[in-house]
Amino acid sequence: MAIGGYNQLPLISLNTQLGAEAYQFQSARAALYAYLNAAKIKTLYIPNYICDSIFPALKSLTVDIKFYSVNEQLLPVICPKLTNKSNSRILLVNYFGLLNEQVKTLTALEPELFIVDNSQALFCEHIDGTTSIYSPRKFLGIPDGGLLRTAEKINMPETQYDASENVGHLLLRAAGDVQAGYVRFLAAEQALECFIPKEISVISAHLIKCADINVIKKMRRRNYEILYNKFKSLNQLQFPVNDHVPLCYPLKLGVGVTSICRTLIDKAIYLPRYWRSDYSGEVGTSMFENTLFLPIDERLSEDNIYALSDIIEQRIEYEYSR
Ligand SMILES: Cc1ncc(COP(=O)(O)O)c(C=O)c1O
Repeated sequence: MAIGGYNQLPLISLNTQLGAEAYQFQSARAALYAYLNAAKIKTLYIPNYICDSIFPALKSLTVDIKFYSVNEQLLPVICPKLTNKSNSRILLVNYFGLLNEQVKTLTALEPELFIVDNSQALFCEHIDGTTSIYSPRKFLGIPDGGLLRTAEKINMPETQYDASENVGHLLLRAAGDVQAGYVRFLAAEQALECFIPKEISVISAHLIKCADINVIKKMRRRNYEILYNKFKSLNQLQFPVNDHVPLCYPLKLGVGVTSICRTLIDKAIYLPRYWRSDYSGEVGTSMFENTLFLPIDERLSEDNIYALSDIIEQRIEYEYSR
């Protein structure tokens, strides 16, 4: 411990452990790259509804990408049959952290053939025998991070990710300067486009120790439940909270959501869109076009969530009446 000298942010370590048994990288795509490279995977089956950010890593490893279709429940229409089990894998996405049980069932018979993409499901437990990846910065205020659980032996990189230039958005957002923070957030995300694996930054490793995971889990589940109860008769997706800790509350409508999202910005409500991609099939395209992904994170009080749900309800009513 150093004594004296310049000051520091008053961050109190709660000694939170996250991914103690995982290989810890700067991003989920770096974690995926490290696994595919070590396991010498040549063919990867991917759902036709996914974030494009993983493709550059796959291309650089010259992995042959084969798409499979997902149905309205966001599950494989038909689970791919592998002809060469030693060098092929199936990537299953635990969408919005809402498919824990379904993923368990799908992987039960031959877990070693699956990579479970828990990038949106930080608190979904790793399933023995599978390989799984996680992206903790989607749930925690940290600048980088990607976890890998696998039986494969991974040689960790010697270099650590340097997040010191990419942490300003978190401070600006905490201080209430959302606009200035957003510009830096985009730059921080861009810095993670380099998928060559590095060890998680010292900053993120420390911030994880300071995160109150129990509060985060509890608030997310409570907020999700409020939105679930409010919108269950309207939502074309039916995912009860059960034991999940979801990323967001996906609300799928019978109309496009682009203009709703635009008008919400005027009220300082910023919704992500998952995902615009040339590789999306019919279900993926309709998820992107017709779904509102409502925030449920621990920053939102019960009052905030009720206020949000009222605004959303009004906007939807207006959209349906047009
Ligand atoms: C399903 C899924 N997989 C992988 C990734 C990549 O995660 P990361 O940005 O940590 O590399 C994302 C990112 O949005 C994702 O949504």
